[in-house]
Amino acid sequence: MTTSSLITHHSSPEIPVIAIDGPSASGKGTVAALVARELGFHYLDSGAIYRVTALAALRAGISLDDEDALAQLAGQLDVRFDNGEIWLAGEKVGDDVRSEASGNAASRIAALPRLRQALLEFQRSFRTAPGLVADGRDMGSVVFPDAALKIFLTASAEVRAERRYKQLIEKGIHANLSQILQDLQQRDARDSARSVAPLQKFADAHLLETSTLNIAEAVAEVLTHYRERIQLAS
Ligand code: DC
Repeated sequence: MTTSSLITHHSSPEIPVIAIDGPSASGKGTVAALVARELGFHYLDSGAIYRVTALAALRAGISLDDEDALAQLAGQLDVRFDNGEIWLAGEKVGDDVRSEASGNAASRIAALPRLRQALLEFQRSFRTAPGLVADGRDMGSVVFPDAALKIFLTASAEVRAERRYKQLIEKGIHANLSQILQDLQQRDARDSARSVAPLQKFADAHLLETSTLNIAEAVAEVLTHYRERIQLAS
């Protein structure tokens, strides 16, 4: 299935969305996936869409500043998400997509308005019954502004750098803590300063500061907020 073939899908306001936004390495992906599993909802890792687009651009030799070529590429991307695995043009690309190189390239192309526009409907096409948990930077502000619950999940840059460092070491990947901290701060600055869909906490989002919370506690907080919302709405 290609992104362009999905443009005809419409958003479905009756299908609930939980939007979890926040900075890199905040743990929002892990929390979002567990919340989705708990509720039996679908899960959208929107960062992976930006990352796989960046990877496709790097592979095609497209400059990361060429907005028109990138928007066109995004509209024709042959990408499939299947059981936690990511396929690009029929090839499994999960490890490449999760690399720091793809993350940094994703952060650069994510500043381009026409590229973001080209990915909008593809992201919305993940909204299918019985519900969706979506994580990213602009899930609650741009992609699903009518989300039933919006969470801004964050932690201090130091805590996030340590979490990323431990993850890499556990995978046997060489890592340097101060370099990771520096990269994270750079990426935060770029994601927050861009003019289109910047990373920020909006007034209608709950702040979830996880520096002193473990994953289970963060998941429980999101579920409590969601159940409160549903009760209020019924
Ligand atoms: O969540 P992540 O680190 O995998 O995202 C990679 C990059 O993609 C991130 O630096 C900013 C961008 N991104 C975005 O601009 N909007 C989103 N909804 C998700 C990710």
